[in-house]
Amino acid sequence: MSVFAAVLPHLNAPFSHSGAFFSFSAKYGAFMFSHSRILCPELQQKIMTAEQAADFIRDGDTVGMSGFTGAGYPKALPGALVNKAQIQRDLKKPFKINLWTGASTAPELDGVLADADGINLRLPYQSDPICRQQINSGQMHYIDLHLSEVSQYAWSGFLGDLDVAVIEVAGIHEDGRIIPSSSVGNNKTWVEQADKIILEVNSQQSLKLEGMHDIYYGTALPPHRKPILLNEPADRIGSQYLDIPREKIVAVVETSAPDRNSPFSPPDAVSEQIATNILAFFEHEINKGRLPANLLPLQSGVGNIPNAVLSGLDNGGYKNLSAYTEVIQDGMLQMLKSGTLSVASATAFSLSPDALVELNENIDFYREKIILRQQDISNHPEIARRLGIIAMNGLIEADIYGNVNSTHVMGTRMMNGIGGSGDFARNGYLSIFMTPSTAKNGAISAIVPMVSHVDHTEHDVKVVVTEQGLADLRGLSPRQRARVIINNCAHPDFKDQLLDYYERACASGRGMHTPHLLNEALSWHERFEQTGTMRQD
Ligand code: COA
Repeated sequence: MSVFAAVLPHLNAPFSHSGAFFSFSAKYGAFMFSHSRILCPELQQKIMTAEQAADFIRDGDTVGMSGFTGAGYPKALPGALVNKAQIQRDLKKPFKINLWTGASTAPELDGVLADADGINLRLPYQSDPICRQQINSGQMHYIDLHLSEVSQYAWSGFLGDLDVAVIEVAGIHEDGRIIPSSSVGNNKTWVEQADKIILEVNSQQSLKLEGMHDIYYGTALPPHRKPILLNEPADRIGSQYLDIPREKIVAVVETSAPDRNSPFSPPDAVSEQIATNILAFFEHEINKGRLPANLLPLQSGVGNIPNAVLSGLDNGGYKNLSAYTEVIQDGMLQMLKSGTLSVASATAFSLSPDALVELNENIDFYREKIILRQQDISNHPEIARRLGIIAMNGLIEADIYGNVNSTHVMGTRMMNGIGGSGDFARNGYLSIFMTPSTAKNGAISAIVPMVSHVDHTEHDVKVVVTEQGLADLRGLSPRQRARVIINNCAHPDFKDQLLDYYERACASGRGMHTPHLLNEALSWHERFEQTGTMRQD
């Protein structure tokens, strides 16, 4: 047990919010109490304001920031960069950076920088309305990547050089060991790749996160790769600390601000019906002997539908489930508490404010059951395949043959990005895609003749589920799949149109393997575009 873990439970102060740091000092041979979380004397010399630290970032730089689904992103540097962009602009000088992160962040990072026209290129995932608008208007370049692959891209040099890393951490020990924050994401890669490193030490992150992380240092590029010896979601194969080359640290900034922590909205009737359909399917698979009674490690996207599924599992009498996923959301915390879930491995939290309080108040309990890893391990294809993950992700549209579009509205407009869905869908044991059968208040069918953009091909999609029902596509030919998807998943308002399309495509006598009427398949989308129900960003 670490010094912090041994000492902190005896103190009643809410350490997650106090900003105080209590540790054993080798120099003084005693426990020291400090209001700073930066105990390393060498790094204390580098403490400065965010504005001063922002001077290390120049126009045109590529900056790798921490942050994954609103957790663990830098809280001060983005604002300082916005001020800097404004000053530069007043001097008629440009200021734009290329921004790399783990995944989506928060309005205080993506939103403010985009709003200041400060981002030239963004990768590997975002879900910010201003970024989305700029990506779709052509103002911002966007590289939408499988999240497991980002570090390999960076290491291989495909993305160019990384000038600066800006990483939020929870604390720095006297000997320089660094306690990571509420997400790990690509931080290991960024600090290894960057020329300069700026650390933000956030006193609102719980110091009791210490011991929850598992940073793996055995990755390599081909041909030097070795098997990753992670055989169970609970396995720990790395270090609790983020190894940061100290000579590259140019600035340390103290912050005190919470993660994004969006409020949780309870599942609606459609989400609950989708969850009911998935739970019935799990029961069916257990009865058939194709899933064990405690299922297989769960991967779940975030949002209403995944939370409804998690809550259904929690109330369904399951015990000893496990999760090998990207993000720990409210539903997983609840399942850990109730004992439905015994362990959850992820790369970040994505919690509501209430769930954050629950985590911090019981963090000794959760630390035993939660492991935070870097995203090239949390999403690793080798591990997803070995563990036999049950992947559950959302979609924008699925076609009658089982191809899935997760990213592009009407084929051209980026919504968020593929995120980790491809890492898990292709390599998992079961890839389930779930969606309401219609979008935009029933005006648009989520089941279409031909998807307008393909993220997950028919080869990767095993199950499609809507509130109407579930289509198990395993073992079916394309024409068999079409009937099952239309009959089980399409909304009644669109079922006849889809069946009519399919039957006329078959009757056309063109290719009978995957029958299509190409002109009509594409005009299906244009028809909806003309309804004016499309989002314009
Ligand atoms: N046509 C037009 N708009 C559509 C649409 C369609 N076929 N389907 C959904 N939309 C719109 C919705 O109306 C909604 O718009 P709004 O924000 O203006 O209300 C928006 O897309 C989001 O849809 P919603 O039904 O709320 O679903 P969601 O929040 O579950 O998001 C995805 C669905 C596909 C966008 C989301 O799951 C995603 O980004 N997936 C890719 C990344 C991923 O899977 N990550 C998890 C991996 S670990």
